[in-house]
Amino acid sequence: MELKNKNLLQTEAYINGQFTASASGSKFEVMNPYDGTVVAEVSDCAIADTEQAIQAASEAFQVWKKFTAGKRARILKRWYQLQLENVDDLAQILTIEQGKPLAEAKGEIKYGASFVEWFAEEARRIYGDTIPGHQGDKRIVTIKQPVGVVAAITPWNFPSAMITRKVAPALAAGCTVVIKPSELTPLSALALAELANQAGFPPGVINIVTTTDAKAVGEVMTSSPLVRKLSFTGSTRVGKILLKQCADSVKKVSLELGGNAPFIVFDDADLDIAVQGAIAAKYRNAGQTCVCANRLFVQSGVYDEFITKFTAAVKEQQLGNGIAAGTVIGPMIEEKAVQFVESVVSDAIAKGGEVLTGGQRNGDKSSLMYEPTVLANVTTDMSVYSSEIFGPVAPVFKFETEEEVIKLANDTPYGLASYFYGRDYAKIWRVAEALEYGMVGINTGMISTTVAPFGGIKESGFGREGSKYGMDDYLEIKYMCWGGIE
Ligand code: SIN
Repeated sequence: MELKNKNLLQTEAYINGQFTASASGSKFEVMNPYDGTVVAEVSDCAIADTEQAIQAASEAFQVWKKFTAGKRARILKRWYQLQLENVDDLAQILTIEQGKPLAEAKGEIKYGASFVEWFAEEARRIYGDTIPGHQGDKRIVTIKQPVGVVAAITPWNFPSAMITRKVAPALAAGCTVVIKPSELTPLSALALAELANQAGFPPGVINIVTTTDAKAVGEVMTSSPLVRKLSFTGSTRVGKILLKQCADSVKKVSLELGGNAPFIVFDDADLDIAVQGAIAAKYRNAGQTCVCANRLFVQSGVYDEFITKFTAAVKEQQLGNGIAAGTVIGPMIEEKAVQFVESVVSDAIAKGGEVLTGGQRNGDKSSLMYEPTVLANVTTDMSVYSSEIFGPVAPVFKFETEEEVIKLANDTPYGLASYFYGRDYAKIWRVAEALEYGMVGINTGMISTTVAPFGGIKESGFGREGSKYGMDDYLEIKYMCWGGIE
């Protein structure tokens, strides 16, 4: 790796303002998913390290919460600026450990930084209310206060932005944080810690516990009475476990979990725009985002034309090393992810599905690169219909009526993102209102932005990230009833 700022490559956990080895001294290897080479060895923390980080965050909370909003905002702004100044290095670190193409990695760093800028600005707008009293001698006032120490468990698919999207509102609100990044991508998290150090956060405000023992660390985070809030992005399976664990100490919880996004193309859609949107919504990050289009439903009148145009566009997507110029789809994250994709594609083929392009690994058996794939003749009994694919495979279903497609789209326990293309405005309102999802993209395949509330319903979780709503998850409302005012 050719970094301009070599300090960004940190390999030890970050606790109480110091990069520190784990108590046991053990380390784990971080691999480049493109070629399997070892990129770094990182501290493997366990229970004692996590407890130390939580203690540090708890002590720092007493200091940080008393900073004025303006002072917190200025430090956050410096952190934001440092992220932008170091965008090339941060993107390189991200691509090397995660695999996504460099241009996409740069996009992620800027997207992640934008949450820091946004919440630095929002810090000054944590307003309370005055409420007309219910009795003549009473006055009612509300204030908003930080919840306390926040545990943030973040995923490998956005190793930088999923941290800033949680940590920026938490810090802006006056909370302190303990982050557990994915063991597959800890380097991006540690690079953010290095910049946080430079930005001037007091020790203990941000802590990062790197570990391969997610279960033990997660148990400490969810059982500690010092932790008052858990924010998790990851699978629905793990989210349910964490939610149960948080019940005992009744923590505030936000969960951003799995999805099974429908992508609907109606007969009256602009097909070129729909194809472009489907490419973006399906193949971004090699299909490894919770908002990726998972099931494409195309109305019968345009099915053949859409399939032809879409397959041609998919064939142009260049698969390769994320660091190399021209690559638009990188490797998948790990072997078990590729095997899962292989299993859903085999299941579809066995039940009559047709591979129009892709349908296999690119390269030898150890390659983590899966070719961008289009499947036709798919049916609802196939696992591509009900499973979150989390890979570059697009199953295309044919439908006849609006009523039918709404039923199919909602036929899932998930409710994160959904997309549809059409031009009739009455239908647009009907469909947008009928889709049981937290987010709806209408004539667009790209819905992620700092300024909008990101989040799901049903088994995709609860809580919102980004936007003016993103701060609410890190604040408590206190109501004061003033009496005896004659
Ligand atoms: C995710 O996959 O969890 C986040 C995707 C995004 O922010 O676009």
